[in-house]
Amino acid sequence: MNNNKMEGYVEWTSPSNIATIKYWGKTEDQHPLNPSLSFTLKNSKTITGIKYKRTRNKESSLKVIYDKTENVAFEKRIQEYLHKIKNTLPNISYYDLEINTRNTFPHSTGIASSASAFSALALCLYSIENKIMSEEDLHKVSNLARIGSGSASRSLYPNAALWGKTNLLVESSNIHAIDYTKYLHPIFKTLQNTILIINDEEKKVSSSQGHQIMSKNPFATTRYNQANQNLEKIIPALQTGDFKTYSEILENEALTLHALMMTSMPGYILMKPNTLQSIELINEFKHNTNLPVTYTMDAGPNIHIQYPKIYAKQIISFIDLKLKPLCKNQQIIYDEIGAGPERNV
Ligand code: DP6
Repeated sequence: MNNNKMEGYVEWTSPSNIATIKYWGKTEDQHPLNPSLSFTLKNSKTITGIKYKRTRNKESSLKVIYDKTENVAFEKRIQEYLHKIKNTLPNISYYDLEINTRNTFPHSTGIASSASAFSALALCLYSIENKIMSEEDLHKVSNLARIGSGSASRSLYPNAALWGKTNLLVESSNIHAIDYTKYLHPIFKTLQNTILIINDEEKKVSSSQGHQIMSKNPFATTRYNQANQNLEKIIPALQTGDFKTYSEILENEALTLHALMMTSMPGYILMKPNTLQSIELINEFKHNTNLPVTYTMDAGPNIHIQYPKIYAKQIISFIDLKLKPLCKNQQIIYDEIGAGPERNV
């Protein structure tokens, strides 16, 4: 145990991400059943600070404050998480921890926060004992984040990240995600991601439950093959700046994700009428203008509209005029590709 670090405070800001190739289905030890690829966001972030003090007691204490209020449910999830990472970060159990966390995106916008939350938490916990100096450290933090939430493993990197073993990239791994920046054409480094908040209620079926049900989905094997094939097609599109192929795969992945929910037993639908209406209007706009604009969805009713920055003016006018009225309380988050986590303290 390092005596120099008897107590202190560490704070990180970490972003959410949006998957282009979706992670949907995992093993018991939180390995993905297919590789996934995502863009790191800029404005949808979690800020987490940890006050830590070496405990004199046998058992260390944990307090979790979410948005200025003590949150028992979240505290329980983090307690379980700390137990799971005990072998990876053995010294953490000697500290009393007070965790303070908040999101930059408004409460209950239906935006998945586990990716930003667990990546910020993993960064803080790792930094209590170690300096993050190298790519190897980032891989270790990505592994820690993965144990909390699979998609969180991808939030550690700027621009884009790939998680899951694939023969297409030797450095890929099921244990941690890797930085995908060097494989991106410059046009994708300007990617805009405008989020339509169609509904802000808590989902009836969480992503973790969705992954579990996937194991019994009759189309599971076909899906894992399809994800690998889609990855094989999207890699050259991302490298050459082929937005048309990118859009085809992106939309196919989003619709497949929701089809898998519908074909599970029991089946469920997370899209709302305004989700479908928005997709129809986006398709119509795309057809009429020929502009490079496309969409994807998370495991929820909200839509992420993507386009290169140079087309932002025309596309945002369309979004504000036609799609904003379909959003809950007209809520839209104008996000874009981001530079990854930042240490504050
Ligand atoms: C649809 O990472 O939230 O967003 O590992 O159980 O925490 P757990 O699941 P989670 O699943 C994300 C699913 C997805 C697709 C994706 O981000 O790749």
